Parts: sequence; structure tokens; C-alpha cells
Amino acid sequence: MQLHLVYFSPTHTSRTIGRSIALGCNTDNITETDLTYRPPGQPIVIQADIAIVAVPVYGGRVAETAMERLQWIKGQQTPVIPVVVYGNRDYEDALLELTDHLKNTGFCPLAAAAFIGEHSYSRTDMPIAGGRPDAADQTAAITFGCKAVEKWNAAKQKTVFPEPHIPGNYPYKIKGPKTPAAPVTSSEKCIQCGICSEVCPTEAISGTIPVSDPALCIKCCACVKECPAEARIFNTPYTAMLFEKCSARKEPETWF
Ligand SMILES: Cc1cc2nc3c(=O)[nH]c(=O)nc-3n(C[C@H](O)[C@H](O)[C@H](O)COP(=O)(O)O)c2cc1C
Repeated sequence: MQLHLVYFSPTHTSRTIGRSIALGCNTDNITETDLTYRPPGQPIVIQADIAIVAVPVYGGRVAETAMERLQWIKGQQTPVIPVVVYGNRDYEDALLELTDHLKNTGFCPLAAAAFIGEHSYSRTDMPIAGGRPDAADQTAAITFGCKAVEKWNAAKQKTVFPEPHIPGNYPYKIKGPKTPAAPVTSSEKCIQCGICSEVCPTEAISGTIPVSDPALCIKCCACVKECPAEARIFNTPYTAMLFEKCSARKEPETWF
């Protein structure tokens, strides 16, 4: 069985979940397409038996950059497993939006899931879903992948099977206004290693002492989380609010 995993994952939680689901599908034949750092530049037609598409939730919707880059990916009535990963607040209409998009681009939803990943705005002093996906999440993802393949096998590996009923509303949640804020650099701590600009999905960071272009920055916090000197700082009032209101552990949800 050929599997194709597609993801957009600035802080790697969607990738981790996608890979665990792929592991549960129990095949050695896995292709990966990472949309995080650039758009593919040419259309990719998925030839695999099953595709997994894993993306983060931003503001209750699919992260906008992920959605833009997914325009390059097409199926051929390919069974697909849409997966959203969210930071323990809510995924609202993101899974429905992702599933609808995939249906419109040549995919047939086989199963779907919403998993939890450490919130991009989480900090060591105010953790929000800190350390997730953890071992329990990864086990749940493996089990989910295994069950999705069972469903595909039961349907004699065709593209005709009952579709999962995905939660969400129409019209999708309205996107909030973009905040002009972006992470800043502590010039005392910065060691000028350039990692922040390498891991930025939108090439928003430039300069010897790195400066973010707020118009390009998507606030994904990859630069904050990957800075080896802890020199990148993103102070947002959301962190305290989320820490206070979204600390109760949520569990992964799956649909078949
Ligand atoms: C701009 C932005 C908006 C976000 N909005 C939400 C949200 O609406 N609900 C939620 O639970 N988490 C939200 N998150 C947290 C991410 O969904 C979560 O951290 C996810 O695990 C990130 O995926 P990644 O590691 O693959 O980049 C948001 C993160 C960012 C950067």
C-alpha cells in the first residue's frame, strides 16, 4: 500500500501526528511532502492509495499559508485522511474547511481527526498543551491510522466508502483581523546563527540581528521555539489568556 503524507507544520506537531498516523497504516511505502518552508512551485498529483494531510488550526480555521500551499496538491479520487492539529483551545471549522477543500481537489475522505499539539504561544512559565503530542497522543494516532486502513480494506481498497461526518459550521468562522505584532530579537542574547530565518515558513526574517516583517510574519512561532539562544521573543496577551482558560486537557477526536 502506497501512502503519501502531506503537511504544513512550523512547530512540528502536525508533522509528528501525521507521521504517527502513517506508522499505524503499517506500510514501508511512504512519500512525504513538506509544505512548511515553500510552496511546491508545480502541481503535485498524488498517486498513492491513501493520502494523509495534516495542518495546524489558526483562529479556528486551517492556517492560511497551509491552505494556499495545498492548492498545489491534487488527488485522483484518492482516499484521504484530513487531520487538524490545534493548541488545546478549539478547532472550530478547520477540519470541515480542510475536508471540503480536499473533496474539491480530487480526494475522497476516508477518515478524519483532530489532535492536540503544544500551542504555538505556549511558554515554559505558561504552558498550553505543553509537550503535546505526548506518548498517549502518538499511540492514539497510530491506532487511528490502523483503523483507517481497516476501513479501506473493508471497502476492498476502492474509493467508494461511507464518508465520515465532519463537525463544523457554514459559513466558516470569520477570520479575525491580522495583528501587526511579530516576534522581536534580544540583541544581547542573539548569537546570529541564522536559524530563525531558516525555519521561518514565509521568509519574514532578515538582518544580522533578525527583524521580522510584520506583513509577512504568520505568528507561527517557529523562530521563537527553535532559537537556540532564546533570543526570539513573542509577547502576546493571548498566552496568559490561553494558559488560564485552556489548560484542561483535551483528547484527540476521530471520525470514520
Ligand atoms: C496564529 C495562530 C493561531 C492559532 N489559533 C488556534 C486556535 O484557534 N485554536 C487552537 O486550539 N490553537 C490555535 N493555535 C495553536 C496551533 O494550532 C497549535 O500550536 C498547533 O499545534 C501548531 O501546529 P504545528 O506545530 O504543526 O505548527 C494557533 C496558533 C497560531 C500561531
